[in-house]
Amino acid sequence: MKILFLNPAGLIGGAERVLLDVIASLRAARPDWPLALIAAADGDLVGAARALGAEVSVVAFPRSLAVVGDAGVGGTALSYRWPLGLAGRLAAAAPAVALYRRRLRSAIAAATPDLVHTNGFKMHVLGAWAAPREIPLLWHIHDFVSTRPLMSRLLRAHARRCAAIIANSHSVADDVRAVLGRRPPVFTVYNAIDLAKFAPAGALLDLDALAGMPPLGAGGVRVGIVATMARWKGHETFLRALAMLPAAAPVRGYVIGGPRYETAGSQYTGAELRALAMKVGVAERVGFTGFVSAVAPAMRALDIVVHASTEPEPFGLVIAEAMACGRAVIASAAGGAAEIIEDGIDALTHRPGDASALARLIAQLAGDAALRQRLGHAAALASARRFARPRLAADLAPIYCAVVERS
Ligand code: GLC
Repeated sequence: MKILFLNPAGLIGGAERVLLDVIASLRAARPDWPLALIAAADGDLVGAARALGAEVSVVAFPRSLAVVGDAGVGGTALSYRWPLGLAGRLAAAAPAVALYRRRLRSAIAAATPDLVHTNGFKMHVLGAWAAPREIPLLWHIHDFVSTRPLMSRLLRAHARRCAAIIANSHSVADDVRAVLGRRPPVFTVYNAIDLAKFAPAGALLDLDALAGMPPLGAGGVRVGIVATMARWKGHETFLRALAMLPAAAPVRGYVIGGPRYETAGSQYTGAELRALAMKVGVAERVGFTGFVSAVAPAMRALDIVVHASTEPEPFGLVIAEAMACGRAVIASAAGGAAEIIEDGIDALTHRPGDASALARLIAQLAGDAALRQRLGHAAALASARRFARPRLAADLAPIYCAVVERS
């Protein structure tokens, strides 16, 4: 069986890390299945997928298509941007989209896949437009759909073309069903991670040096948020929580990550976050590392990993990764994130956006090394059960086979 993946970005964000893990897992379990990927931009994803043995080509989005998106319209964003221009931008992109569809169609035909697996909203729609009718299409949905009005409409309009949907959590699966109804069938396949890479033991990153800060003294506790700069990831909640800690608390905060995706307006810039840190009075106790590719060494260098999304998190890959690294995790408990942890056993939780609750938990953990250790140990054990990579192929292969048989 030959599977062709379509991905709307070339950079490696959460959905792309999962795609790479899917490819690695299938490679190991089904070495006889050829795997191919078409990415809509060049970037780290291309080399990483090739290194795993996939046949990769880039069919680049025209600029007008790369920047258009409605992630800022609904609930997954603050009201900072009401995209008056979205309809206009879409209309302006129409001729380029028509051209792109033709190029994508010939690239798909040339790859001769048995099944097309799309890995992001734009590719769900473009895949439906471009994939030859006889090739079944499977949508892998990583985000809530109902909060995106335009995407909801587009997916509804093309749902008949899709043979099956993979959702990364039950919360996302329920949301997809609420938008699309009973067809196509939706299967929850939780993400998995590379437990050899995300493990309690291993290299550490010097976060202080990266952030240009003096080394933190003995007894200091490092607490960090590891996330893209998407506004709903809760950097603001994190900075405000740090501002509520007693000045004498031996805690240093770290903002790890940088802007990634191209969709305009949906992210903070580093400068904006630094200004916010200044405004709430924590500029001295927060380091900004910028984008870090060595995520596991960065997490291992932290004592506490904070996940602070202000909206329900579809899955929350960083939570799984930090747990697998044996860290004490504080997560914002809503959506898929709440499904993958056991509050008080392998992580602590706060309500999305509740900076005071987050501050209390940071203070509690900062003052209790034994609790940090207990949570971290339980988290590493739970990860081995929940997030081992071979499960991806075990979950997906039967779905692929059923879909291809039915077509
Ligand atoms: C998206 C979701 C995130 C999830 C990732 C991988 O980025 O927002 O919650 O972890 O996809 O599925």
